[in-house]
Amino acid sequence: MVTRSDFNKYILPVYNPAGFIPKKAKGSYLWDQNGKKFIDFATGIAVSNLGHCHPRLIKALNDQSKSIWHLSNVLVNQPALKLAKLLCQKTFAEKVFFTNSGAEAVEAAIKTARKYSTSNFSKSKNEIIAFNDAFHGRTMMAIALNGSKRMTDGFGPMPKSIKHHEFNKIDGLGSKFSNKTSAVILELVQGEAGIIPAKKKFVSEIVKLCKKNNALLIIDEVQSGVGRTGSLFAYEQYGIKPDILCSAKGMGNGIPIGAMLTTDKVAQNMIVGMHGSTYGGNPLACAVSKEVFEIISKKSFLKDVLKKEKLFLSLLNEMNKKVAVFSEIRSSGLWFGLKIDDTSKLTLANLMQASYKEGLMILKANNNTVRLAPSLNISKNDIERGVKKLEKAILSLV
Ligand SMILES: Cc1ncc(COP(=O)(O)O)c(C=O)c1O
Repeated sequence: MVTRSDFNKYILPVYNPAGFIPKKAKGSYLWDQNGKKFIDFATGIAVSNLGHCHPRLIKALNDQSKSIWHLSNVLVNQPALKLAKLLCQKTFAEKVFFTNSGAEAVEAAIKTARKYSTSNFSKSKNEIIAFNDAFHGRTMMAIALNGSKRMTDGFGPMPKSIKHHEFNKIDGLGSKFSNKTSAVILELVQGEAGIIPAKKKFVSEIVKLCKKNNALLIIDEVQSGVGRTGSLFAYEQYGIKPDILCSAKGMGNGIPIGAMLTTDKVAQNMIVGMHGSTYGGNPLACAVSKEVFEIISKKSFLKDVLKKEKLFLSLLNEMNKKVAVFSEIRSSGLWFGLKIDDTSKLTLANLMQASYKEGLMILKANNNTVRLAPSLNISKNDIERGVKKLEKAILSLV
C-alpha cells in the first residue's frame, strides 16, 4: 500500500497531485480508492482523447503485446511503418520521426529545421522565432523557447539564437526576421496559456514572412492535435501547410508516443546517425496510435466533436450567467479556457478542490484560467452532468 503522503517521500517534488488516488477509469469516468466516481474533463492533460480503456485500443495493445514489444531502430519496425504511412496519408507530411513525448518532438523539429537551413543557406541561419506564453515542453530547448524567467530561472545557460515576440501581435514581427532566421515555432492554439487561438491574420503574416526569408514554419500541435480542435490537426482550419509539425499527447491515448512530421524537402538533410531514440516508434505505442488515428480521422467523428463543442459552450455560457465568475469563455473544439474574472474571489486552487469534491476533474492553465479537455467521444449526458457539477463547485465558493 502507498498513500498520498508517500508521494512527497519518494517523488521529485516538482508535482503536487490531488489528495485522492485514482484506481480505475473507463470512458469519461474515473474512480478513486474509496470508489468515488468522477467525470473526467481533464483526460490526463488532453491525452485520453478517446476516453479511458477504449475497447479497440485495448485490443490493439493486447494483440501487439503478444507479438513484439520492442525493436530497436536498426530493424524494420512494422507497426511504426504502418503508422507513419497512415500519418502521411492523413496529413501534409511525407516523412515521420517517432518520439516518446511532445518535448522530444520539439527537439527533433528544431534540429531538423536548423540542419535544413544551415545546409541549404548559410551556417549562421540558425535563429528560431518563438512566441511569449508559448509552451513547448520541459527540455532545455523547450524551456528556452518559452523564455520566461518562471521556466528558465536556475537552469541556464540556455540554448542560444532564439528570438521572442508577442503572440498574436503583427506589429514589429517583421523586424524579428532576417537572413539568419531558420524557423518560427508556433502553437496555433496556445494551450497552457489558456486556450488562446492564433488570429488568422497573424498566422498568414507569419507564413508570408517565412516565405520571404526562406524560414521554416514549425507548428506545435502536441496539445491541439489528434482531433482536439475538431479537425485532425488545427493547421487544417487555417488553410496553411506547416514545414514541420510536432504531435504527441492524444496520439497514444495514454501510451507514450510523439512524432515530428515533415516534408521530403525539409527531411533530406537529416541522414543516418544524425538523430535517434531508443524507444521512439515503440511497436506497442504505434499499434495503439494507428487505431487512435483510424478512429479520430473519420469525418463523422470530427463533425461530432464540433457539435459537442457547441452544446458544451452554450452550457458554459448559461452557467456563467448564473455564477458570473468568468470574464471570457474560449473554445477550440472540445477544449475550453474559462478565464476567471480578475475581480472574482474565486481561485483556481479552490475551484479544483471544490470540483473534486463534486466528483469532477478539471485542469488549470496559466493566466488564471480553468482548462477543460474532455474526451472527444464524451456523451452529451456527461457533458451536461459535468457542467452542472462545475456550477455546483463554483456556487460552493462564491
Ligand atoms: C504545445 C505543447 N508542446 C509541447 C508539450 C510538451 O509535451 P510533453 O509533456 O509530452 O513533453 C506540451 C505539453 O503540454 C504542449 O502542450
